[in-house]
Amino acid sequence: MTAPDARAIDREEAALEKLAFDAAQKAVQVHAASFAHAKGQRLVIEKKSTAIDLVTAVDRDAERAVLDVLRASDVPVVGEEGGLVGTAGKGAVWYVDPLDGTTNYAHGHPMFCVSVGLAIDGVPRLGVVWAWALSVVWRGTNTRATRLHTASSGEHAIGVSPAESLEESLLVTGFPVDRRTSSDDNLAAFGAIMKRAHGVLRCGSAAIDLCMVADGTYEGYWERKLRPWDFAAGAALVLGSGGRVTDPWGRPFRVESGNVLATNGRVHEELRLALAPHLPAAPPELTGP
Ligand code: IPD
Ligand code: CA
Ligand code: CA
Repeated sequence: MTAPDARAIDREEAALEKLAFDAAQKAVQVHAASFAHAKGQRLVIEKKSTAIDLVTAVDRDAERAVLDVLRASDVPVVGEEGGLVGTAGKGAVWYVDPLDGTTNYAHGHPMFCVSVGLAIDGVPRLGVVWAWALSVVWRGTNTRATRLHTASSGEHAIGVSPAESLEESLLVTGFPVDRRTSSDDNLAAFGAIMKRAHGVLRCGSAAIDLCMVADGTYEGYWERKLRPWDFAAGAALVLGSGGRVTDPWGRPFRVESGNVLATNGRVHEELRLALAPHLPAAPPELTGP
């Protein structure tokens, strides 16, 4: 399988977005089928890289459902739970998080979604993020993002917040899954920014966090130690709604870097400078295809 190049993706953009939507819908059916059960009776929860890196049968079943749809394209697919279609290398790659917010899901909390994103040479290009329990789908490309309310079926173009400063901002962040053992845990940065903003939330789904920057709910989001499937879709939607996405050191964003700072653009520099004293030295920059 040869991954299509950027021009081929441009030509097929609408069809690929539709495919991502159809794939996400399959995952949502899996989420919906087990969520009531998860609330009444805890799901069986397994652990992955650490004691708080959780996975359930729902994650795996949802991933299989998504991959079955995406294999209709000639773009390789990488899924969080190990699912792989084709060989991902240079060019276009689908990144699938079949259940982003597994901890929330397993505890019966509604902040979870499926995230299907396409990146080209590590740069976010398009995505669909579907939060079934919130009845919201964010979808689009790096030039055009929309929000669809599934309960009412209304769809509208979204844009980032007009707020100009940190002190009038609502922000969101996340904490790494190695936080029980690593001192590089984002807590100092969280505390410092909390003193300066309207608030800093921790909602537990990187993909939804990004989408809520895209739709103007939050002015900004930062997180480190993530994986490409956490933010390939959401980062494309922040760009498509007029926002800015870099790494937390202000360098160009690539999905493999694991680190993100996404904002409405207007508060980007102020937030970057406020975070800087609490970040470790910047890792080597990822460049080029
Ligand atoms: C997690 C969520 C969370 C972030 C974690 C991720 P998962 O993904 O995106 O917001 O803080 O670090 O691992 O495991 O629920 O797919
Ligand atoms: Ca995730
Ligand atoms: Ca996941």
